[in-house]
Amino acid sequence: MYGLVNKAVEQMVCSHFNPETWEAIKQHAGIDITSFVSLRPYPDEITYQLVDAAHHTVNLSHADILRAFGRYWVLYTATEGYGELLNVTGHTFEEFMENLPNLHTRVSFSYPQLVPPTFETEPFDGGVLVHYYSERQGLAPMVVGLLEGLAERFNTSIAIELIASREAGDDHEVFRIDYK
Ligand code: HEM
Repeated sequence: MYGLVNKAVEQMVCSHFNPETWEAIKQHAGIDITSFVSLRPYPDEITYQLVDAAHHTVNLSHADILRAFGRYWVLYTATEGYGELLNVTGHTFEEFMENLPNLHTRVSFSYPQLVPPTFETEPFDGGVLVHYYSERQGLAPMVVGLLEGLAERFNTSIAIELIASREAGDDHEVFRIDYK
């Protein structure tokens, strides 16, 4: 994944913990990179190793780390560098969900080697189904955090339920979101 992602992991660790913890995580992961370059793609393996090393270093589950990262991404990383993109994607949670399928197409103009996830959304009375397709495994908890972060951004109360998953034998994840 692009360095932008690993840099955001670094910022999250430094703001929730401290720079020493980040150094300990990198050391545990055996990663000898002083600073990631946002616009450079790195092997996915590096991001997974960082999450695993964070799990061992700060004693949180992989799922909790990914979920916290999803929230951090929407509430801080994207807000700082991509505020305009977030604004054009939607002014309400519902509108954002309607346009979510196109978001990474816009991102790929700046990141030509992007391997983005694909989203499809199906509104229903009182909520929306979010279909998530990815070549990568194990990132569903990050999507939960992203959706929670978006709900917070738009002051919307939601309940999220995972109703289909690759782990359960389906070919992609489906999140049912109910507005509360
Ligand atoms: C302006 C905001 C956003 C930007 C700039 C952005 C950019 C990126 C980038 C650079 C990656 C790494 C992929 C790669 O390097 O190949 C990524 C991955 C991802 N993005 Fe976004 N993104 C944004 C918003 C969102 C939102 C709002 C969601 C979901 C609600 C989302 C869901 C994901 C997921 C789940 C991944 C992990 C990769 C995967 O599942 O295969 N992103 N995004």
